[in-house]
Amino acid sequence: DWTAESFVEQTVQHLRQRLGNDRVVMALSGGVDSTVAATLVHQAIGPNLFCIFVDNGLLRKDEFEEVLHSYQDMGLNIKGVDAKDHFYKALAGLTDPEAKRKAIGKSFIDIFDQEAHLIEEVKWLGQGTIYPDVIESVSINGPSATIKSHHNVGGLPDFMKLKIVEPLNTLFKDEVRAVGKTLGIDPKILGRHPFPGPGLAIRILGEITPEKVAILQQVDAIFIGGLRKWNLYEEVWQAGVMLLPVQSVGVMGDERTYESVVALRAVTSIDGMTADWAHLPYVFLAEISNEIINRVKGVNRVVYDISSKPPATIEWE
Ligand code: XMP
Repeated sequence: DWTAESFVEQTVQHLRQRLGNDRVVMALSGGVDSTVAATLVHQAIGPNLFCIFVDNGLLRKDEFEEVLHSYQDMGLNIKGVDAKDHFYKALAGLTDPEAKRKAIGKSFIDIFDQEAHLIEEVKWLGQGTIYPDVIESVSINGPSATIKSHHNVGGLPDFMKLKIVEPLNTLFKDEVRAVGKTLGIDPKILGRHPFPGPGLAIRILGEITPEKVAILQQVDAIFIGGLRKWNLYEEVWQAGVMLLPVQSVGVMGDERTYESVVALRAVTSIDGMTADWAHLPYVFLAEISNEIINRVKGVNRVVYDISSKPPATIEWE
């Protein structure tokens, strides 16, 4: 019978044998899978695991600092890399969703390749791939997904020549969470909603600018913070906000305003393949809408997305 305890014991032992004194590099995303995978490898080989966490400028508000600190607290050998400008430059002028994804994937590979080169004699690339990623090519897990889906763009970067170690590739998400719990990983990390690798870039419709990212981060923090405060965070499978390329007229005091519209999206789902819009309480939506409009400069209208998947995808891009 499968238990998280025996999985951890056997996997750590197996990793220790397989990796010996070799060095391993891993990109962490702050998500459940990469965190659990890194913790297992870390238990097996300690400081021979080199972790990289890239700030692509498309994360949630304060997320880079918070996640970096929790990795440090966990004792991981982690390097935070500020690559915001690199990503913003690569995204400048792009509006097509797939072009944006490609630019982000390529930027990620550039940065990761550069960082991996700074580690001497690294032999392995660790990834948080889980079983569903193996059976479908689409993953919801950030960096590892980005590497896979873009590895045939141009010449193969050097880190791609590394041997691959994927300790979670036989597990489903709930098993990964159970393993994470056994490993003593912070429940806040284990309970996190999925977040797409391209981050807020696919929630800002149209061109990405640092100013738009800042607006969306504020709105998103109010929405997600509100879900936590109202004990609704765990009721939904995923939630986020889209910043629309639409201005609408409003009034503020006796001034006319002409500002952006945001769309709140929250869904219930088992695996992200199908999803229903979450029937959040009206009182909650009313409070969140007021708070967003009162506090976030540049937004004067909030709408709630009541579309299910299919046909509407969870993300708008
Ligand atoms: P959709 O929008 O297709 O999303 O209903 C299903 C799940 O996948 C996530 N998603 C992505 N994850 N790279 C990722 O790593 C992507 O390009 C991407 N697009 C969507 C989405 O957040 C949801 O969890």
